[in-house]
Amino acid sequence: MPQAADAGLPPPVVDGDFARELLAGLARRPRSIAPKFFYDRAGSALFDRICELPEYYPTRTELALMRERAGEMAECIGPDAEIVEFGAGSSRKIRVLLDALQRPRRFVPIDISAEHLHAAADALRADHPGLDVRPIAADFTRAFELPARSATGGRRVGFFPGSSIGNFTPDEALDFLRRTAALLRGGGLLIGVDLVKDPALLHAAYNDAAGVTAAFNLNLLARANRELGANFDLAQFAHHAFYQPTLQRIEMHLVSRRVQQVRVCGHGFEFAEGDTLHTENSHKFSVAGFRELAERAGYLPRAVWCDPQRLFSIHWLALPA
Ligand code: AVJ
Repeated sequence: MPQAADAGLPPPVVDGDFARELLAGLARRPRSIAPKFFYDRAGSALFDRICELPEYYPTRTELALMRERAGEMAECIGPDAEIVEFGAGSSRKIRVLLDALQRPRRFVPIDISAEHLHAAADALRADHPGLDVRPIAADFTRAFELPARSATGGRRVGFFPGSSIGNFTPDEALDFLRRTAALLRGGGLLIGVDLVKDPALLHAAYNDAAGVTAAFNLNLLARANRELGANFDLAQFAHHAFYQPTLQRIEMHLVSRRVQQVRVCGHGFEFAEGDTLHTENSHKFSVAGFRELAERAGYLPRAVWCDPQRLFSIHWLALPA
């Protein structure tokens, strides 16, 4: 646990998930925090900019794949479906899918950022008057409840684009897939998965020339300053992103540029020069490796779509009733 800074004074009340997890993450070795905390308003806006970067191939590759193959994807899903989207950020991808589906009945977007979520839900309702849109503001990495299945008889199908599955460790990914398999029984999951590739391409995607990914990473500290009254000096931390071939993942860290002391919620933390806070893992998969993982979680891997350069994949994983 972090030590109280001033003996005699009780530390201020530690309120909320971000405060609790940041304090715990700074106290453990190696220091780490879950990437879900990137996505406050500023972080979500920076992520949207990442998706437009020339070096960041996943978003445009997945979107192009969806535009080209949405008809086949809709055929796998079938008519009258209820779509549950895990981590509904901007709604560009779900719109492509909804436009291709036959009579989609209900859309349940689940997102940690309530504000983003409700604005996107309103816009979708306006464009799809027949669609029952039921946003759930929740952290999908934890347990959550879905509304009772609608009586219209369509299948319940998950949609998890963007390779956000890559943020999980392999154990966590297996656990997430098992939990969703239970929720989606009789339907399936359409999931976007980033592929292993030339490390130079991966490196560029997480070290863009314009420095947007660095700003996205550093925004975690800016968020702590804004929300928790922390005093991180952003100029004294460096963005560090690199590919770990043995673990098939990009790691992002914030590295202390010098010896420094930081205060968060009344607790003091020491950094030596070079000490890091691990902020994200982004796992990459082979098509076969991902299908194996899905199978272990109880899914039946069926169709898979890849771009010609095999940068990115989208998988249809079916579930028996
Ligand atoms: C949203 C988790 C898929 O890992 O590529 C982008 C987040 N981090 N650039 C990814 C991210 C740095 C992204 N995911």
